[in-house]
Amino acid sequence: MAAEHGRIALVTGANTGIGRLAAIALARAGFGVFLACRSRERALPVLAEIRAEVPGSCAEWLALDLEDFHSVRACAEAFLARDIPLHLLLNNAGIAGARGLTTSGFERMFGVNHLGHFLLTELLLPRLRASAPARIVVVASRAHRRVSGIDFAALRRPTSSLTGIPEYGVSKLANILHAAELGQRLAASGVSAFSLHPGVLDTEIWRTLPAPLRWLNSLRLAPASEGIGTILHCALHAEASDTGAYYSDGARSDPAPCARNTALAIELRDWSLAATGLG
Ligand SMILES: NC(=O)c1ccc[n+]([C@@H]2O[C@H](COP(=O)([O-])OP(=O)(O)OC[C@H]3O[C@@H](n4cnc5c(N)ncnc54)[C@H](OP(=O)(O)O)[C@@H]3O)[C@@H](O)[C@H]2O)c1
Repeated sequence: MAAEHGRIALVTGANTGIGRLAAIALARAGFGVFLACRSRERALPVLAEIRAEVPGSCAEWLALDLEDFHSVRACAEAFLARDIPLHLLLNNAGIAGARGLTTSGFERMFGVNHLGHFLLTELLLPRLRASAPARIVVVASRAHRRVSGIDFAALRRPTSSLTGIPEYGVSKLANILHAAELGQRLAASGVSAFSLHPGVLDTEIWRTLPAPLRWLNSLRLAPASEGIGTILHCALHAEASDTGAYYSDGARSDPAPCARNTALAIELRDWSLAATGLG
């Protein structure tokens, strides 16, 4: 992908769900798009869709498994080696209800939803800074409201709840704290950061929930296409001066009090730096 193609976005988890829809919409908006996904086979149809819908657009696959820090580092290195700018990092990939430990040894949902993205963001930050104005958009969830804090010791143990819902909530709380902390840290750098709740949507995210919960949940889901409005708002339109803020239904919104806890955001940053070997 050549630099003359203008603005460039990297979207994690772009092979399905709202990541796929967002990648297509960003290509329509003129972005060259990198689809950072773990399966090339699952990314290929989306690449074809983008090329068919937006003739002349640039879209490429990058290998990324957020469970594995080696894969995250390789993904960042593969992007940085291209010597092109990065204007938008969309941290979208996520899992809900998948239990256990990641390859790198952390509670599974926290490891994928927050820690892998934290490492990817840190590694790409110099390029984002050099490409300013640039944005980091973190897809969180209103599920963060189900929890009131982070038990840091539990993050190094396998998922302990039966449903995985509390652990999912902690990972989504971490997403919001991450964007808020980036907003503080990067103020005046020209790189802004936002987090958001996309809606409660009919995507593949629910595939790992226990069957009865999956059925109950299916009764309240909106079409996935309704989820990308808030993502695009944060990626394209939110005021840079609102950096660090949380969005829902396309507008700025107050997350739960624990997601506004600056001391917790800093503790999470320091813990995440140490956990990913950066601290
Ligand atoms: N759907 C909702 O109602 C809802 C509500 C609130 C927030 N969200 C958030 O929205 C985001 C997107 O979810 P979605 O609903 O679009 O779900 P989805 O259809 O299941 O898509 C999730 C994406 O994440 C990828 N992914 C999972 N584990 C990964 C890993 N280890 N490494 C790299 N990529 C990985 C998946 O790849 P594979 O296909 O290879 O598994 C897939 O591309 C998530 O962060 C989720 O928490 C969704």
